[in-house]
Order: sequence, then C-alpha cells, then structure tokens
Amino acid sequence: MSVHAIIWDDASDRLVLLDQTLLPGETVYRTIETTDDLVRAIEVLAVRGAPALGVAGAMGVVVAMDEARRQGWDEASLQHAIDRVRAARPTAVNLAWGVDQVRPVLPQGRAAVLAAARQLAADDEAANRELSRSGVDWLLDRVDRRRLRVLTHCNAGALATAGWGTALGLVRELHARGRLEVVYADETRPLLQGARLTAYELAADGIPHLLQSDGAAASTIVRGRVDCAIVGADRIAANGDAANKIGTLGVALACADAGIPFVVAAPWSTVDLATASGDDIEIEERAGEEVTTYAGTRVAPLVTEGFNPAFDVTPARLVSAIVTERGVVEPARGEAMTGSPGE
Ligand code: MRU
Repeated sequence: MSVHAIIWDDASDRLVLLDQTLLPGETVYRTIETTDDLVRAIEVLAVRGAPALGVAGAMGVVVAMDEARRQGWDEASLQHAIDRVRAARPTAVNLAWGVDQVRPVLPQGRAAVLAAARQLAADDEAANRELSRSGVDWLLDRVDRRRLRVLTHCNAGALATAGWGTALGLVRELHARGRLEVVYADETRPLLQGARLTAYELAADGIPHLLQSDGAAASTIVRGRVDCAIVGADRIAANGDAANKIGTLGVALACADAGIPFVVAAPWSTVDLATASGDDIEIEERAGEEVTTYAGTRVAPLVTEGFNPAFDVTPARLVSAIVTERGVVEPARGEAMTGSPGE
C-alpha cells in the first residue's frame, strides 16, 4: 500500500491532505488554503503521526508564504503564522523540526522552500524503508520463530509518515520476506487510530491481523501470543526514553515481563538530542470529551470529566531497540542516542 496522506498537488499548486478523521469509511482529500486550515487539520488529527506532522509543518511554511502574498502580510505576520503551525501540537518533535528545516530557506523564495519541503518528504519515505530493513534484520537475529506474531499500538504506518511507515514498515518488510504470521493491532482509544487506520492499512495490504481492545494487550503478551511489540515514537530523548501514543508504556511493561523485544521504530527526525530524558517531554493533553464519548455519543455520566493525556513515555530500560535509518541502538542495554543536537 503506497497511500500518501500528504500531497503537494501540482495541478492546484496547493497542499492536499487525506482527512484521516473520516477513514476508513470515507476517503476525502482536503485542500489547505490557509495556515488556519492547517492548524485546525493538525489539531483534529486530520493529519497526524510524528513524521507526517514533520512534512505537514515543512509544507505549511509554503502555505503561510502563499497566504502572506495574498493577504499582503508583513514579515512579522508571516513569521507568526509559521510559529502557529510549528506549535499546533507539542509532543511530536517532528512538527517543529519540519518547520525549522525549511525556515532558513525562506530568503531564497517560494520555489526553494517548496523544493526543500518535498525533499524532506522524500527523505522520510526513504528513511522508513531503510529502518524497516535493519529493524527486521535485528529482530530475525533474536526471535527464534519462522513467522513472527507482532503486536503494535496506534498507527505508525504510511498514513503517519510520508509513506511506507515505521512500525508498520517493519511489519510490511516481515510480510514481504514471508516471516510474518499475524499482527495484533491495539484499537487505541480514544481516537481509534489502531482500529480505523492500522487495520485499514493492514487490510489494504492483505496482511493477517487481529484487532484487540487496548485492555487485551498485556494479557496477549504475557500469555505468549506474540513474539515482539513494534511501535512508533513521537519524540525520543537522548537517553533513549521514548514518547508514543498513550498505552504504549503498558505494552512495554508487559513485554519486559514476558521477556520479548519491545522495539521502537522511527526516523532520525524523531530523535531529539536536545531533550535529555522523557521527563522533559511535553505530553499533549486533549479534551476530556474524547474519553467521555464514544463515536460521538456520550457514554459517561454528564457530571463525569475525562482525563485525556495523548501520549506516554516508555523509559529507556524497557526499550529493547530503537531502530532509525542510522541503525539500531539498544537502550535497555545502556546504549544512548548519539550525535549533535539539531542534526
Ligand atoms: O495522536 P497521533 O495519532 O498523532 O499519535 C501518533 C502516534 O502516537 C504514532 O505512534 C507516532 O506518531 C509515530 S508515527 C510513525
């Protein structure tokens, strides 16, 4: 499946996003005309997933430039609009990173900024394919089973990236090598990225999968029904702590108890060496109504308020491997991420 959730449409010369809030029922592409459109699309998760947010942020700089020209904005208004895109969601470092990658190109003009944003998208897809290969090599060296049973949480597939996927990239690679038995996909309450998006991608590729409630994950792992868990990440701190969708920490704890690998797959753009540990990662807290309702219908008493952290942090000691396009790091064995902040 090579669905692209983020497209720079040559015909209209506009940013076009696949509205992921409507999947799998409806396939609707939305043209982004303004930075308000883009900020809203990011806030409601029409575009989501850390690497995809990076691409949206980079292309959002072009959206802001076009709006500035149409509206006759001064430089300060343009920079303010770009800042709003950059800050639309706090946890995935890729969003700010994507904006920051292309912002220095602004003085070179629109064509150069657009070219830089497109290159960033192409690099992301290439990184996903590279890390999928090395991640699968790492796993197959350690799991003594012909066909692997994999658990994943949230959606870290083509929809969450510029294409191919991170955690689902490894799944696709295993499947292509004939080494995948089945994927257990956690439904991922409250917004059901697992049920709506991961199952959609796996079904489209004909990859065997079972959808389970988030509450089933620990038992599935501890009862020996899976060989490993593979998840994506929104931000990886220098010490190997990894933020990902709420519920990921429980998966990691169960994997440690069961003695099976817990693998985090992400492009290097998700690694934030300026953040020393997970304690310094801001966790997005979303509206309580996302929890007190189900499919738009109130399920909790009217007086009940929801608590809705969107992400959690898995400590490095529980992370068997972090797989990026630069190779594999093993935080649980004391390895840290290395490099210079900002690269
Ligand atoms: O709230 P979301 O849907 O943006 O959360 C997405 C995740 O948690 C993904 O696992 C993560 O961004 C990695 S995507 C390759």
